[in-house]
Amino acid sequence: MDLRARVDMFSYMLSNDIVELLLRLAGRDVRSEIAGSASGSPAVIIDELTGIGAMLPRYAKRFPEARIIAIDLDAGMLECLQKHTERAGPEGVEFLLADARELPLAAGSADLVNISYGLHELNWLDRELVLGEACRILKPGGELVVADYRAGRGLVRRSLTSIYFRLAEPRWIREIFDGGLQRQVEDAGFEIRRVTADLPVTQLVVARKAGNAPCARGHMRLVT
Ligand SMILES: C[S@@+](CC[C@H](N)C(=O)[O-])C[C@H]1O[C@@H](n2cnc3c(N)ncnc32)[C@H](O)[C@@H]1O
Repeated sequence: MDLRARVDMFSYMLSNDIVELLLRLAGRDVRSEIAGSASGSPAVIIDELTGIGAMLPRYAKRFPEARIIAIDLDAGMLECLQKHTERAGPEGVEFLLADARELPLAAGSADLVNISYGLHELNWLDRELVLGEACRILKPGGELVVADYRAGRGLVRRSLTSIYFRLAEPRWIREIFDGGLQRQVEDAGFEIRRVTADLPVTQLVVARKAGNAPCARGHMRLVT
């Protein structure tokens, strides 16, 4: 990766992916734990809102046979990530410039969808659209792994994270706390398998696409 691409990636990380810094400070490989929460042997893994693609090496290591597709709406970011991945691996990852609210992927084409530290940036309707699309593209029984921020525990941590969220994150981030993320995943057509709230700064929701439940389509609500 040339210097320009490195600078772009670093400045992107500072402005969009503070979580990477927070996770590194926590000194625990939370991302490997997130990838470790996926079950079975998924043949097709989709990493939506991929950003700097920090989950890609973890999934490639855990599921070396899988086809992995990284999706983001930001062309510059995706180009940087592609260059970085070509240089540093993992090999064989595919990149798709697309809107996760309306994906150019066939229904039932994925076994596992990962969405990490991205949903808090989207407002309620966009989260519903993204989760609804994740449900649509998953095979029945397919798995959704969602990791995102959680509120801090204890007076000091709660106050510090609250200040950070107020200064650096959109106001609707609070909607995903206190069970909000889990409820929205359920509403999108998923059965919750596991919720973990003891990872550093992170809540983890692992869910399964229920066989015959309809997937949510937020925009339909707008026009009906
Ligand atoms: C905070 S970053 C993602 C973090 C990353 N997944 C991780 O694990 O650290 C959010 C990313 O979502 C992307 N994004 C936002 N809205 C999107 C959409 N509708 N479709 C696809 N990507 C989107 C942004 O371009 C950005 O790169």
